[in-house]
Amino acid sequence: MKLLVTGGAGFIGSNFVLYWMKNHPEDQVINFDKLTYAGNLENLKEVENNPNYTFVHGDICDSGTVDKAMEGVDIVVHFAAETHVDRSITGPAVFINTNVMGTQVLLDAAAKHKVKRFHHVSTDEVFGSLELEDSSKFNERTSYNPRSPYAASKAGSDHLVRAYHVTYGLPITITNCSNNFGPYMFPEKLIPLAITNVLEDKKIPIYGDGLYVRDWLYVEDHCRAIDLVLSKGKVGETYLVGGMTALAPNIEIAKKILKLLGKDESSIEFVKDRPGHDRKYDVDWSRIKNELGWEPLYSFDEWLEKTVNWYKENRAWWGRIKSGAYKAYYEKQYGG
Ligand code: NAD
Ligand code: DAU
Repeated sequence: MKLLVTGGAGFIGSNFVLYWMKNHPEDQVINFDKLTYAGNLENLKEVENNPNYTFVHGDICDSGTVDKAMEGVDIVVHFAAETHVDRSITGPAVFINTNVMGTQVLLDAAAKHKVKRFHHVSTDEVFGSLELEDSSKFNERTSYNPRSPYAASKAGSDHLVRAYHVTYGLPITITNCSNNFGPYMFPEKLIPLAITNVLEDKKIPIYGDGLYVRDWLYVEDHCRAIDLVLSKGKVGETYLVGGMTALAPNIEIAKKILKLLGKDESSIEFVKDRPGHDRKYDVDWSRIKNELGWEPLYSFDEWLEKTVNWYKENRAWWGRIKSGAYKAYYEKQYGG
């Protein structure tokens, strides 16, 4: 089997490539990545000399390179995207270009080359926001209500993927997943930002009142869910993937990280809120459990501790990121 993984140098994509090559060593994996600020080939050192692994440096918006990479491919797993909500607020254009237009370029090539499966990796953010006191959850029938340029661009890409199935018969599947955490997560996102700031003796910036809730999922659980959808999922269908619903607000996550690193709460700093900040995400993953037998295996507290340890042990990995171009972004976003 030959897989084309887009965005395989990013956080979830690189975890997925490592997971796939360990669990399906007979398969060929092509990692197609533009290497934006979020792409990092260091994540893939373990497989870079594996004869079944190939890296293609390319942009999913570039139809020529995409068409060439698609030759002989059986399965596409599409992760490549602009992914940070805050960046989509200050600069939405690249989100529309990569997430919508880039997905359309990939879909055209996948249809032309008659791939056996196009799997699109999407997000629970397309469903909008729940109220804190709301006990309902997002499910496969929830209406789309994206509220940030990032979420709107992912919603657009989901619609395109389904349209290519209906119109051209492209065999697609989609997963909409909640917030992932784990190794190789870029330190612009809450959990790695908080851990690395504390390790650098800086404060954890918490937006607004800190009472915003995410449905955290360990990244390997997400990779396993995609694997199951590829092998047992129904073509044309969507599966929601979520965490163990610890439902701890951001302020509690920050406190847990501080405790694990032996620091007190004076290291928390409340800062200006994110415009249009979604209050709560909560995912009902009963469909993928009932139909495919998936459920999260990794508890939040246990894997938060392991993730904290990973960042402690891999200072060089994030140190290079935080001292490079990301420094200028951080100063602009958080005011120095
Ligand atoms: P990331 O930002 O860490 O990585 C994105 C990767 O895509 C990078 O390697 C980057 O170089 C590559 N890329 C960006 N633009 C590209 C282009 N034009 N052509 C080729 N490659 C390009 O992202 P992530 O957090 O790993 O997210 C991966 C996917 O999963 C995204 O589609 C995202 O929407 C989705 N998702 C993420 C989460 C999460 O919690 N991080 C949750 C649900 C869904
Ligand atoms: O729900 C899935 C989504 O999760 C993915 O689709 C996105 O690609 C991914 O970035 C993530 O989006 P969020 O906006 O939920 O993640 P982020 O880590 O940016 O923020 C998590 C929460 O923490 C959110 O309520 C905002 C808050 N936050 C974030 C940052 C960066 C802070 O309080 N302070 C911060 O400095």
